[in-house]
Amino acid sequence: MNGDSATVPRHVAIIMDGNGRWARSRHLPRPAGHKAGVDSVRAVVETSAQRGVEVLTLFAFSSENWRRPETEVSLLMDLFFTALQREVRKLMKNNVRLRIIGDRLAFSEKLQQRIAEAEAETAANDGLQLMIAANYGGRWDIAQAAREVARRVKAGDMEPEGVDEHTLGEHISLAGFPEPDLFIRTGGEQRISNFLLWQLAYTELYFTDVLWPDFDADAYGRALDDFSRRQRRFGRTGEQVAATADGK
Ligand code: IPE
Ligand code: IPE
Ligand code: MG
Repeated sequence: MNGDSATVPRHVAIIMDGNGRWARSRHLPRPAGHKAGVDSVRAVVETSAQRGVEVLTLFAFSSENWRRPETEVSLLMDLFFTALQREVRKLMKNNVRLRIIGDRLAFSEKLQQRIAEAEAETAANDGLQLMIAANYGGRWDIAQAAREVARRVKAGDMEPEGVDEHTLGEHISLAGFPEPDLFIRTGGEQRISNFLLWQLAYTELYFTDVLWPDFDADAYGRALDDFSRRQRRFGRTGEQVAATADGK
């Protein structure tokens, strides 16, 4: 809208945090915060598609979130299930392809089946690629990639000496997609909480105090605008980067 040359991140990864505090500040039970958070997911998905973001990865449930009270875990599972059921129509309308990353084997059979159906239903959509990280942990991801590489070595497909960053990167979640350009964490905490450890190596980090249920299109727009003003150097000097940009 304001200048077509503003850089739009190809891949945005978000830790959606602050649902519980949002609910508490309104004297509501925590589940109310999680429910309100679904509206923010919708807003961010739609804005991403409109602004031309190619990949959006959302952290919905961490491998550590099983430590929460059983009632909250089961509410989150129910919410995930109904959201998958209800939102697919809208994803179809917006040409969004949905995929889940994380260890899905820990979920109930019923939920695993719903996940597979939602993925299959949206598989032909070639607009925004929406990745939901569920029972995901960055360390789990690196370990499962290492396990795949070990299998290839054991099978005789490759030598241990041939294992490098590229080999591991081929087996890590989100392989084949551009790496996240912009990371956003709402809710005021400034930590990664075992989200995409490998993939965030050169991602621009953006932290905001806005609680996830309050994170609307405007708040997201502010994060995207902030990103467009950053200079990414990838180890080079600022002068080198500026010279390359001028040369284009
Ligand atoms: C994020 O909100 C949602 C999940 C982790 C599933 P929280 O539930 O962590 O909200 P706070 O951090 O307690 O406010
Ligand atoms: C991270 O939020 C996980 C998700 C948003 C799904 P948490 O609220 O679980 O993170 P910590 O425990 O405060 O680090
Ligand atoms: Mg939290």
